[in-house]
Amino acid sequence: MPLVSMRQLLDEAAKGGYGVGAFNVNDMEQIQAIMGAAKETKSPVIIQASRGARSFAQDRYLFHLILAAAELNPEIPIAMHQDHGNSFETCKSAIELGYTSVMMDGSLKEDGKTPASFEENVAVTKKVVDYAHERGVTVEGEIGVLGGIEDGHGAGGTGLEHVTDPDQAVEFAEKTGVDALAIAIGTSHGAYKFTKKPDGSVLKMDVLIAIHKRLPNTHLVMHGSSSVPRDLQDIINKYGGKLKETWGVPVEEIQLGIRNGVRKINVDTDNRLAMTGAIRKVLWDTPEKFDPRDYLKPAREAMQKVVALRMTQFGQAGHAGDYQAVSIAEIAKGYKSGALSTKPLVAR
Ligand code: 13P
Repeated sequence: MPLVSMRQLLDEAAKGGYGVGAFNVNDMEQIQAIMGAAKETKSPVIIQASRGARSFAQDRYLFHLILAAAELNPEIPIAMHQDHGNSFETCKSAIELGYTSVMMDGSLKEDGKTPASFEENVAVTKKVVDYAHERGVTVEGEIGVLGGIEDGHGAGGTGLEHVTDPDQAVEFAEKTGVDALAIAIGTSHGAYKFTKKPDGSVLKMDVLIAIHKRLPNTHLVMHGSSSVPRDLQDIINKYGGKLKETWGVPVEEIQLGIRNGVRKINVDTDNRLAMTGAIRKVLWDTPEKFDPRDYLKPAREAMQKVVALRMTQFGQAGHAGDYQAVSIAEIAKGYKSGALSTKPLVAR
């Protein structure tokens, strides 16, 4: 199957009542791990690259690795997504490369650190939407600001500093016409999200539910949604690592989100933990080894295991064969004719 529009993939997920994991990649092993899991569980999937990933791997390498994934797995719908675009130019460059979806994170200024005003966010996001939709490319926007820093991008601090205001979410969706909306509900990027198992005082599922009630047809996105499992932390620490005790987003809270309009769930940290733990174990147990394949293979397998589990937990497993890809040119026509709505349904 050719790469598909993320809009198509999320519309299908809404029809089926499931969520789709969006997994970050930087290299071949991570792409192979995701595709191994997608094949094993028959799942549609979103592969996403941050600006940091694009510069680490170089655009052409990463792009062709993801194309190889599509070529080798024709039965799997794959959306290729720019994670946390910081500017119109970043999103435009991803679209020119062939990404089928971009995130314009206008919640921060172009420096990727300073919170932007609502008006600035609307203006830059709308500009990206106009450019992208003309070309059949999906746009994710963000309203409210996540905590933490990922790949140098983020305002830092806890996730509770800029929780999304439901009224602003409605206004933002109406003014921009985004296909998917990331909201801030107390999560943050990275391993250190919560200092104990999160309850409603730090993980604001009530805010998510309130937004879904007002915007029942908008695809919501949960960022910072690694669960940071204890067993993965333990493996790292057992083999010489020094992680401090920490908690992520419990899978049952993500599943509650999926029942309330969440269609895209961003996961990076869990995969980083799985790979690092596997590599540490090999190097610790067999210090005489020096062939990178001796540790990259177990690392890839460990990541595949985590991704396959999340695909099952998010409900996307078994849905790869539900539909055929609609070409990006057809999607562009759909936006133009209004067949693909960009006006959210608002419950007042
Ligand atoms: P985690 O750090 O929780 O995996 O979040 C990743 C993410 O949201 C990427 O945009």
